[in-house]
Amino acid sequence: MTRVSLSNLTKQFPNAVTAVNGLTLGIPDGKITALLGPSGCGKTTILKMIAGIIQPTSGDILFDGHSILGQPAEKRGAVMVFQNHLLFPYLTVEENVAFGLKMHRESPTAIRRKVADMLDLMQLTGYERQKPNQLSGGQQQRVALARALVVEPMVLLLDEPFSNLDANLRDEMRELTRQLQRQKGIPTVFVTHDQEEAVVMADQLALILKGVLQQVDEPRAFYEKPANLPTAVFFGANNILSGAATGTKVQTGIGEFRLKNQPPLSGPVNLVIRPENIRIDQEYRHMENCISGCIQSCLFSGTHTRLKIKVGETVLELATEATAQDVFPEGEKIRVYLPPEKLWGFQSQ
Ligand SMILES: Nc1ncnc2c1ncn2[C@@H]1O[C@H](COP(=O)(O)OP(=O)(O)OP(=O)(O)O)[C@@H](O)[C@H]1O
Ligand SMILES: [Mg+2]
Repeated sequence: MTRVSLSNLTKQFPNAVTAVNGLTLGIPDGKITALLGPSGCGKTTILKMIAGIIQPTSGDILFDGHSILGQPAEKRGAVMVFQNHLLFPYLTVEENVAFGLKMHRESPTAIRRKVADMLDLMQLTGYERQKPNQLSGGQQQRVALARALVVEPMVLLLDEPFSNLDANLRDEMRELTRQLQRQKGIPTVFVTHDQEEAVVMADQLALILKGVLQQVDEPRAFYEKPANLPTAVFFGANNILSGAATGTKVQTGIGEFRLKNQPPLSGPVNLVIRPENIRIDQEYRHMENCISGCIQSCLFSGTHTRLKIKVGETVLELATEATAQDVFPEGEKIRVYLPPEKLWGFQSQ
């Protein structure tokens, strides 16, 4: 079921920046939707519009099928956790978490029980009387999440919640958040500019570039079936060959390539392939979609060996899983295979 629907949502700021441009997106119930995109692409603006902190220029926001644009922030039932989590500094952990429940005029007994349960879930029992400045960054983050979750919001909005934490704590918080989200089933919009984080956290992932939605899908699809060239490139498919297509064949400056499992193309196209999808083929196992070049550089990165291969003026990047026997001397000739099902063609004009 779709809990929150964004329909043709646009936000134009007075200084002429179109921060969000015609965004249509469904936020399903009980799942995490990650909004991914580089700094300035409009992620926070989208969350603020859902929360009711700013108003869209045009378009609509529906909760359970009803427009909530006329409703003030406090009536919407969306709770936002900001990047710099904004705890009340003079309130204790317990009072911070209880704050929303008090605003909702819940009974003192219910408040005490809910706060204790939530602190237990967040592994914060024992810290009830501490003030935020007596807590570590990770603990403050958990208080901020506890404060948001305890009111059982209609939708939870998390804006880059873990970007201030070190790598270990971040992993821990990602896991805890996923676990809690599963348990409570609250539809969650999770904003990040970190691709790995988006993929780890998301049931549904939406890539936004310059205020425009590029693709919304399960995370795996961004690696296996990107919707367009910018999406493929954002997700690391950095080998681009321009050429001219006739059906499933494409003539490029370094040879002809065949495509598979794709609708036929015609005219100018860009071919794109991920570094790990290019394969070394010194034994001539494949007769088509192969090219020969020179090894320009060879870099070992722990788990992978990354090769740069020069074919005429074009440089292709290839990543193979590293084995001890892999030695690729610079300047040596190498023959590689670009599998037709891993080569994506996008019409360029
Ligand atoms: N109140 C405002 N007035 C004018 N322009 C704004 C305002 N808020 C944001 N913008 C502009 O809108 C665009 C999107 O901003 P937004 O904060 O949504 O980006 P973001 O994707 O959250 O970036 P980051 O990852 O850096 O947090 C930016 O170009 C920004 O400068
Ligand atoms: Mg932001």
